[in-house]
Amino acid sequence: MANFNPTSTDVFDIMATTRSMRRLKPDPVPDALIRKILEAGACAANGGNTQKWRFLVVKDPAIKKAVAVYYKKAFDEVVGPRYRSSAPPPGATPERYVRQHSAVEYLTEHFHEAPVWIVACLEDGSNPNRGSGASIYPAVQNMILATRALGLGTTLTTRHLLHEKDAEAVLGLPPGVHSYAILPIGYPMGNFGPVGRGPLADIVFQDKWGAPYPALSR
Ligand SMILES: Cc1cc2nc3c(=O)[nH]c(=O)nc-3n(C[C@H](O)[C@H](O)[C@H](O)COP(=O)(O)O)c2cc1C
Repeated sequence: MANFNPTSTDVFDIMATTRSMRRLKPDPVPDALIRKILEAGACAANGGNTQKWRFLVVKDPAIKKAVAVYYKKAFDEVVGPRYRSSAPPPGATPERYVRQHSAVEYLTEHFHEAPVWIVACLEDGSNPNRGSGASIYPAVQNMILATRALGLGTTLTTRHLLHEKDAEAVLGLPPGVHSYAILPIGYPMGNFGPVGRGPLADIVFQDKWGAPYPALSR
């Protein structure tokens, strides 16, 4: 991916360059683009095609600010200390990991400044289980890829869930509806680039757990 084309709309190029874009300009994003992103979300697979997803578009600065308080609280209490004591993940150099930390801190301070949020929700009743998310995260990923294809930046965020009840009360979600992700969307300050991941050979096996998938070494 060293020579990737940043304007390509080929789906493989898009997937390979959809990094978390945490530094966003506060400039408004046209509703026509948000609509395209939402349409991409609603194309996704979902259990039984029941389409229990609901998408809350948030532009109101007061709501964003109030939710961002919980996003930051979760960073100060849990996420920040965890980041500071963890090693770089596969495919990331220590320098790149330090850059990620600083971007994560930036988003923590500026979460509410993203001009538009899409809060991905599910009408999942009073007892959501592990399978519930499977009916909303495909839509979330479609929206992330659509955002990238439109030249906009976003990051899949779930940190507000550490203060789920408080954040959802601010968002005004009715009973039986839960949030699964907040996508802060805006024009990126930086450039898109290749994602950093470890080698496939470390994570793919054939027939027996731990046995290499020979096609990867051909
Ligand atoms: C379930 C999930 C929750 C995440 N929550 C957050 C979050 O709250 N804040 C954040 O800055 N990034 C969040 N991320 C983004 C990841 O940190 C990011 O995808 C990962 O570090 C890989 O970096 P990349 O997307 O730039 O390739 C989340 C990603 C996933 C899949």
